[in-house]
Order: sequence, then C-alpha cells, then structure tokens
Amino acid sequence: MPALMPPASQAEIDATAGPAPETADTVIRLSDYRPPDWVIESVRLDVDLHPSATRVRARIAFRRNPDAEAEADALPDLTLDGRRLTLVSAAVDATDVTQSPHLTLSREGLTLAAAALPGERFTWDATVEIDPDSNTELEGLYRSNGMYCTQCEAEGFRKITYYLDRPDVMAPFTVRLEAPVADCPVLLSNGNPGETGALPDGRHYAEWHDPHPKPAYLFALVAGDLVAHRDSFTTASGAHVDLAVWVRPGDEGRCAYAMDALKRSMRWDETAYGREYDLDLFNIVAVDDFNMGAMENKGLNIFNSKYVLASSETATDRDYALIEAIVAHEYFHNWTGNRITLRDWFQLCLKEGLTVFRDQCFSEDERSSAVARIDQVKALRARQFSEDAGPLAHPVRPEAYREINNFYTATVYEKGAEVVRMLHGLAGPEGYRRALDLYFDRHDGQACTIEQFRACFEDALGDGDPTFRDLSQFSLWWHQSGTPRLTVSEAWDGERGLYHLTVRQEVAPTPDQPSKQPMEMAIRFGLLDGDGRDIFPHDRLFKLSEAEQTIPVDGLKTRPVLSFNRGFSVPAVVSHDLDDATRGFLLAHDSDPFNRWEAGRRYALNLTRRLAETGADDPDAVPADWCAALAGVACDGALDPQFRALMLELPGNDEVAAEIAASGTPADPDRIHAALVAMRAALGRHMADSLPGLRAEMAVPGPYSPDAASAAKRALASRALGLMLAGGDAGADAAAEAEADTADNMTDRMAALTLLTHFGRPGAADRLARFRADWENDELVMDKWFAVQATAPLPDALARVQALTEDAAFNWKRPNRFRSLIATFAMGNPVGFHAADGSGYGFIADWLLRLDAVNPQTAARITGAFESWRRYDTARQTHARAAMQRIADAPSLSRNTREIVERLLSA
Ligand code: TRP
Ligand code: ZN
Repeated sequence: MPALMPPASQAEIDATAGPAPETADTVIRLSDYRPPDWVIESVRLDVDLHPSATRVRARIAFRRNPDAEAEADALPDLTLDGRRLTLVSAAVDATDVTQSPHLTLSREGLTLAAAALPGERFTWDATVEIDPDSNTELEGLYRSNGMYCTQCEAEGFRKITYYLDRPDVMAPFTVRLEAPVADCPVLLSNGNPGETGALPDGRHYAEWHDPHPKPAYLFALVAGDLVAHRDSFTTASGAHVDLAVWVRPGDEGRCAYAMDALKRSMRWDETAYGREYDLDLFNIVAVDDFNMGAMENKGLNIFNSKYVLASSETATDRDYALIEAIVAHEYFHNWTGNRITLRDWFQLCLKEGLTVFRDQCFSEDERSSAVARIDQVKALRARQFSEDAGPLAHPVRPEAYREINNFYTATVYEKGAEVVRMLHGLAGPEGYRRALDLYFDRHDGQACTIEQFRACFEDALGDGDPTFRDLSQFSLWWHQSGTPRLTVSEAWDGERGLYHLTVRQEVAPTPDQPSKQPMEMAIRFGLLDGDGRDIFPHDRLFKLSEAEQTIPVDGLKTRPVLSFNRGFSVPAVVSHDLDDATRGFLLAHDSDPFNRWEAGRRYALNLTRRLAETGADDPDAVPADWCAALAGVACDGALDPQFRALMLELPGNDEVAAEIAASGTPADPDRIHAALVAMRAALGRHMADSLPGLRAEMAVPGPYSPDAASAAKRALASRALGLMLAGGDAGADAAAEAEADTADNMTDRMAALTLLTHFGRPGAADRLARFRADWENDELVMDKWFAVQATAPLPDALARVQALTEDAAFNWKRPNRFRSLIATFAMGNPVGFHAADGSGYGFIADWLLRLDAVNPQTAARITGAFESWRRYDTARQTHARAAMQRIADAPSLSRNTREIVERLLSA
C-alpha cells in the first residue's frame, strides 16, 4: 500500500471548518434506529506504538448487510466513524482511494461513495496516525504513566481507526502490536495470545486473536512495563484458564485480593448462572488515569488502579469490598454485555442493570446479605433518587441523548438493577433462572434490546404464571422516569378482627415526562403482633397495578403493626404516618433486617428534620427515647456488628435536605448539620458508659484480614470511637490519636484520622502532616489524604480545600486526584459546597471549567453535583444558578458538560 500524503487530517478540518459539532444540538433518538447498511466479517489491526505518532493499519472485511432496511437495490455508501484521525492512506480491494473524489472526510468520519465500492463484499485497508500523548480525554488510545492503554466504550474506538463504531456491528479481531522492547516489554490485547517475536532496532511484536465476534467498544490494548501476578482457574467443564493481574513493577504485592475476587467470581457465575469462561486467558490491568471504575473489554479488563491494588497498610475495608464488587462486575459482563451485547446505546441498562444486579447478588452471597442490601439502598437513595427527583431525571432506558457518556448514570445502573431484582422477586429463584437460561440460549452472540430480555421472561414463564403473560405494564419501570411514591394507610376494625391495608401510588411529573401511568409492582410486607412476632409464616405480596388498591386481612386478635416493603422489594418512596413509638417497636423487633434498619433510619430522619426545622442545636433537645432505642440495637450482641454499625450511622445532610424539600420547604444545610451534631452528641452522652467497653469488645486480634467479620468489628469499634468524641468523653482524643498513630492497618488508621479531622480536634494537624510525609509517594493513599480533608464539615472548609489545591501533590490533571479533592468537596461536603454566600458553588464552577478543557467526560460527571440545587433557599439558588450559568457561557465548553449544565438550568 503506497503511503501517500494525507488529503487532509481531521485535526486540520477541526481547525478550519466552522463551529465544532460539539456545540451543535444534535439529539440522538431511539426511534431513529436503523440497522447498519454494512456489516464487518473480520478485522485485523496492526498497531505500531509511538508516544505521539502511533500508526494504526486496519484491514476490515465489509459485507453488505442482508438485514438492512435498504430502499432499493442500489449499493449504499460506506460511512465510517472517525475522530481526530490523520488519514495516511486508504484502499478498497487493494485499489488506492486516498485521493479519490469519492472519498470525503469530515469531523465525524469519512464517506466513500458507492461509486468507489466494488460490490457487496470488499476489503478496506486504512492507515491512520494518532497521538496518544496529547490524548487527555482518556478515550481512545492514551498514555498513563508511560503505559499505553485504551478506553473504547462508548465511542472511543473511532479515535483509533475509521470504523462502524456501533455496538450492533460485531466482528472477530486479530491484532498485532509492535513497540520498542525497552519501553513496552509487555504487549496485550483481547482474546488468546498468538505469535510473538523480536524485530530489528530493539523492537518486538505480539499477536492476539479474539475469536468471539465483538463490538468495537470492547476492543482494548495495553503496552508498557508491567509485571503479572499470576494464577489459574479450571472451569466446571475442565478447561484451564491462565489468569493474570498486570501492574507496574513494585505493585505486585497488592494484587492478591483482586485475584482472589476474580476466582470467586468465576466460580459464582458457574454456580448461580451456569456460565463458564470462554478463552484460554483472562487479564486484568491496573491503570492510574481512568475516567471511571473499570472496563469489561473481552479477556482484557482494564481497571482504575484504585479498584485493583490493595494491601492492609494502604487499603481500607471499604476499598476491599469495592475491589471485590468491581472485579465481579467486570467479570460478569463477559456474559451479560460481551457474549450478549447491545443493539444500540439506548439499551445500556440491558448490560449494566443486569450486571449490577449480578454483582450485588455475588456480594450478598460472599458477605452479609442484609448489610449488603442496606448498603445498596443507601447508595440508591443517595444517588438515584436524587437524580430522579431533579433536572437530570431520565428513564432506565432513555429515548434521546446528546452525549452517550452522560448516560452512565445511577438510574441506568442502580435503578436498572432494581428492575431486574423485581423480576427476580416476581419469578422466584427458579423461574428467574429459567428466564435467564432462555436469554443466554436464545441470544448468545447477538446485540439485543430490553424488549428481547423482557420476552424471555414472558416466553419462559408466561404459560404457568399470569404475571408473566404480558409484562407491558411492568415495563414502565424501564420507560418511565421518576421515583414512585407509595402512600400507605391502614384501617382496623377491632370488633371483627379485620385489618385493611391501602396503598396509593403516584409518580410525580419529571422534566422529561409530564404525565405518568400507574406501574405494576409486588410489594413484600409482613404484620407483627403485639409481641413483635410475625403473624404470617412468610412475607406477603401486595400486588399493585392500579393507582390505589386495598387488601383485607381477617382473623386477627389485636391490631397488627405493618412492616412494609420488606427488603426494599420495590424502589419507591414510602409515605406512612407512623409515630416514634411504632418506629421504635419495629426497630426493636422487625424480623426483616432491612426494615429493622429502615425503622431506625426513618426515626432518625424524622427527628433530624424536626430539629432542623426548629433550628435546634442543643443535645438536650434530642429525645432520650431515640437514644435509648439506638443504644439498644448497638449493644445487642446477638446482631451482626456491621449491622449495628450501620444502625449508629446518622442520615446524611443531603438525605435530610431531600426529605425537607419534598415537603415543599427549602432545606438549610447549616441547620441540618447542627441538628446532626446535636444528635450525635446526645447519643454519645447517652451511651457514654458503654462505648469504651463496646470498642474494646470489638478489637480484632492478630494480623489484619479483610474478611467481612473482621471488617464488621472494625466498623463498630470506630463508630463507638466517633460517639465518644461526639459525646465529649474525656479519653476520646487520646484514644483516637493512639489509634491514628499505632494502627497496623489503613482502615483503623484512616477512621481515627477522619474523626480527628472532621471533629476539628487539636490532634489532627500534626497527624495529617505526618501522614502526608509517610505516603507522599503513594498516589492511592494520597487520594485518601485529600479526601479526608475535603469532607471535613468545618466552618473554614472551603479555605482548607483551596489551600490544598496549592499543595505540590495536587495534580488536577489526574482524574483520581481531581475527584479526591474537588469532586469529593462538591459531593461529600454539603456544608462547604452549599455555603450560604455561594463561595462553594463558585469554586467548583472554576475547577469544572478548567477540567472541561482537558477531560470533558469527567468534568460533565462532576457537574452533576449541582443536580439538587433546587432543594435550597432562593439565595442559594441564585448563587448556584450564577455558577452554572458561568459554566454554560464558556465559549469552548465540551458537548458533554454543555448537555449537563443546560439540563440543570432549564428545568
Ligand atoms: N462499562 C463499564 C462498566 O460498567 C463502565 C464504562 C463505561 C467506562 N464507559 C466507560 C469505564 C468509560 C471507563 C471509561 O463497568
Ligand atoms: Zn458495567
């Protein structure tokens, strides 16, 4: 192939051709979906790696799509996606077309007119040049710490070569990588390894072949100086799989936990879903600069190093739990996402909701299921309910978007998982397994839609179970945005022993959908007798499909106490007027652990709200009954310590604010904070006598182990320490200081340092300085150092964070570091972010504008911190609007951030 001069590079087109399309308001609609005109039979890529001038040769076998909705017999043009590529040469069936008048380049790709195509089948050869070093967006091929890596989901492959970059175009890939041995001793791509060899001038190459047809978003390559932590796995049917976790030299000692989690995930998917791994090799690579958590590229998962590397000295119990969950999540994508992929990006929840549900079940099986469920619901409420209640509300399966990267949301992931969980609840474990077996049988190797997933439930279960005959009303969970509100009322006829339970459902209009339909749902509930015992041997289901329904329960002797929506079976907001005494009763007795926690949470939430609304900040204003109820659970040795630790956690400022705003009153973060401080102090004083003993009882002997039982004890011990500080215990400072100084693990050390910092204690400053000196060469630990200070709810919070932006270790171009300080302040320091003078909003806007110029995807995501700006008083709203307007007015704002900020402002 002659290496002709390019007709024009896309960089030049970008610079000369009018307003960039990023600023154009192009809306992509589900209803516009058309099958591709061309499909791809095979791809071969030759990548010659160079920091600023990587050459990519692509040989692609195209075939006319027999299933395309072609108008006539005329051959369609070939239009390929491509961004920021410099075309060196292009040929069709070995005929050079680089200078052909039929070839048109644009900012978004190229078109080769049908006139230049030889027929219904041809081979396309193209060579392009790309510049990994200048790629700060971390999408496509880029370098992080000298290591080459890729991120192609959702539309990054088009920054590597011209392609049909859409998930319904699937092909087997063969890849040959070439680089200098000294820079890149390791060369990895998807699939199974092929030939390797030395080349002149200190270079070498490696070939990879992935036999499983895949969409381009699952392509990956990694090259650099890496070392492997190796292991192996034998599948249920006896196949041997080599496993490797690849990290930078020096990090080998921090891979064991991720590897262990991988092997447990592989086994779990065999047992729970009958799904085995399907290549000779499975690689995980840890990368320092990454826009999200991790990516499920076929056979070559790429992770943010935060979710791989762990040792007792550097990682907390929470880090370990996240590593386990994310390793599992990416591994489970091999079947739900990769073997069965998406027809188009509107179907994102088909892989993400289902895979989150799968990783949640894995965590429930590996750890305490009750605690896992409570953690899921806390996250759902904090991130998804607030999304659904604000200007960014959208359905689990959206119908329109401007920038697909903005739709990797809590709604698609977490609410998407809840929808699958509800199907699991309706079908039961065996029915669910039958439906999923059908899904895998029927659709393996295909690019699917939510409707096809739904049909598997109808077809597998509809004969025997009327619920599954027609899931169209249930499907509103995918199509309707907004969180349903369930209003519960009870009636009791003592003479006849008759109880009536009435539930009314309502979904408030959202900015994207003005009117809503009633949904179908099955709400689990129980009734308790006067001694707190369950009246029914099993939970009942309240099947709701109309706006309001009532069910009677007869034959009761005394008025029952309702335990509604057990296990959080339906992702809804429940309005149920209960007095504190009844909440206290449920907190003490409910056999459903989720609802037991929920009763305590509601009790605390109502109390915080009352205190905040009256402006109370005196611990004496906190009712002793509440303290006694919590203390009772906290000291109950029959309960899991992790559950007890969760019970002692008070609601977050944002959660209380949401509650207040939902009733139509503006929330005041300062008053909420004062109320929470008072409650913590009151509880600390109330429990003063038991806390040191509780802490001692929870001490974990022997060397650190990240297992759930040990982690649970550490969690309860540090809650006790926190309450000692809050209650003014005379020995609390010394105890926290000693813990920060002498703990043999990061969990306890960090917990103590957090308490000292957040309570503004005199022992904090020295210890923060020492921590910095000890860990300044460890990026992941330094992220914790920034984060602990960014979340301190102190009056001078912003000044502290501003000072930290001047710290030599604050490299804002690294996403983990930017998130650890800036995003953590915006999302984890409500008092500072919502400062009444607007200073927090202004500060965040300044940094978002700066980040947007280098990394739009991450900037747009953090801009979501403003999503709840309407909850607060008019003065705050005015400041927030001004800050967002300043972002919106920036002349070269990215399409990513523009979409978010415009939606935030418009609603
Ligand atoms: N599919 C990935 C997951 O759920 C997430 C993902 C989507 C991603 N786009 C990304 C990760 C961009 C990193 C960068 O696991
Ligand atoms: Zn995922």
